[in-house]
Amino acid sequence: PVLVVDFGAQYAQLIARRVREANVYSEIVPHTTPPEEILAKDPAAIILSGGPSSVYAEDAPGLDAAVVTSGVPVFGICYGFQAMSQVLGGQVARTGQREYGETRANISSESSTLFADQPGEQVVWMSHGDAVHAAPAGTKVTASTPGAPVAAFEDDERRLYGVQWHPEVLHTTHGQQVLTNFLRRGAGIDPTWTSGNVVDQLVEEIRETVGEDRVICGLSGGVDSSVAAALVQRAVGDQLTCVFVDHGLLREGEAEQVEKDFVAATGVDLVVVDARERFLSALAGVTDPEQKRKIIGREFIRVFEQAARDVVRAHGGADAEASGDHPVKWLVQGTLYPDVVESGGGAGTANIKSHHNVGGLPDDLQFKLIEPLRTLFKDEVRQVGIELGVPEAIVWRQPFPGPGLGIRIVGEVTADRLAILRRADAIAREELTRAGLDRDIWQCPVVLLADVRSVGVQGDGRTYGHPIVLRPVSSEDAMTADWTRVPYEILARISSRITNEVEDVNRVVLDVTSKPPGTIEWE
Ligand code: XMP
Repeated sequence: PVLVVDFGAQYAQLIARRVREANVYSEIVPHTTPPEEILAKDPAAIILSGGPSSVYAEDAPGLDAAVVTSGVPVFGICYGFQAMSQVLGGQVARTGQREYGETRANISSESSTLFADQPGEQVVWMSHGDAVHAAPAGTKVTASTPGAPVAAFEDDERRLYGVQWHPEVLHTTHGQQVLTNFLRRGAGIDPTWTSGNVVDQLVEEIRETVGEDRVICGLSGGVDSSVAAALVQRAVGDQLTCVFVDHGLLREGEAEQVEKDFVAATGVDLVVVDARERFLSALAGVTDPEQKRKIIGREFIRVFEQAARDVVRAHGGADAEASGDHPVKWLVQGTLYPDVVESGGGAGTANIKSHHNVGGLPDDLQFKLIEPLRTLFKDEVRQVGIELGVPEAIVWRQPFPGPGLGIRIVGEVTADRLAILRRADAIAREELTRAGLDRDIWQCPVVLLADVRSVGVQGDGRTYGHPIVLRPVSSEDAMTADWTRVPYEILARISSRITNEVEDVNRVVLDVTSKPPGTIEWE
């Protein structure tokens, strides 16, 4: 792999993604990883990330010279560039003057590995206080900016490179090209990380891990569980049983997408549990959002647990079930790489870890956990899904909360209200898709204010109906969000269609609150 050494900025994941966009596999390691451990991974190249620290700071994260001088190609970015310069005997000066945001860099592209065939002036994105004033001996300076006399250096002999700016951010116009040049020309790495290869490799790993055992997987209708299931199906075929709990809180067409389209496209063996009545009764009379979440979560686990026991029994594990020695050994989990990195799980660990009590499953029903997506970023999961023939409607589905429409009815959840909301939501989604806005909008909750009524007039009569709220938001990660400026004509069409076509709804309102202070969902 290409190892991205994380010096504690938020950029390491972005760098790792950009490397993969160049079709090269990458993993993130914390800067505290001992150099022997880094080199033991036999990296094809090492990238040193930026970081919030000054190389002069008391607690500045250290860079061991062994990492830079081992002969492995190295690319330093921002803090990593400075730390690398220092280790190689260059001079880093405390300027005390920050260069921040868009800057113009002067490039000498002639006989440059990083900048070959690129313009002599480029827009780059900077964020630094210190700067390299004298490049390490043996390196060639190929860029400068007003605040950084040495803004890039290259050493083809030792295969050491670096830039002061952030090539991984999109504001840096030639960033991806510079990274790609380092990987291809500097480090001589072949671009073999393609979705076809990724599928082959993961399928191989799953086969090795699972052997002859049986596997169970819970499908939610979302991207991650669907792609994980499709991968395992590709690897071990009918050894996999998928369980889909229909809690009746999905949107129009979503249950059918799983039960029909997904099964037809992937050939998975699917058990559908129709638990719609059960969820409705459990939710009867409940209006508190947290209470709803708890009930939905609890019921889900109970239903899934029963289904899992049935699958175990169906495969002859009745006697062995309680001892944990049943033939269904593995439970598929759709964990992604960012979760692995953020939970400190460390990159590059085995694809699989064992677990005894997953997601509330009881101790006596033991499974080992298989996480086939744990090396992938979300965009890669989508590509793998496409490669495996998972329907596009699932692959490109926007985020949707586990408790589903249950937390989009403000008030008690009833079958009638679900029917109203499902219709209104389908219309909104249809029009947003038709307008080509799906990729601009992170998600658009459609909310029914079930306990609010307002007066309206339709035809010759007075109405007394419910409002529907449209909540289109733009976001990178759902932590913060802004309301999406959907064109008025589209809003007008959605509004008139919903009020005309959905009974009991006589008003459509737009939520113009950012997050914070509002959350994305209303409950
Ligand atoms: P909020 O409303 O907190 O939502 O701004 C942030 C993101 O999380 C989703 N969300 C949930 N997802 N279970 C989930 O699986 C939940 O209980 C839940 N609540 C919110 C929400 O759709 C948004 O993408």
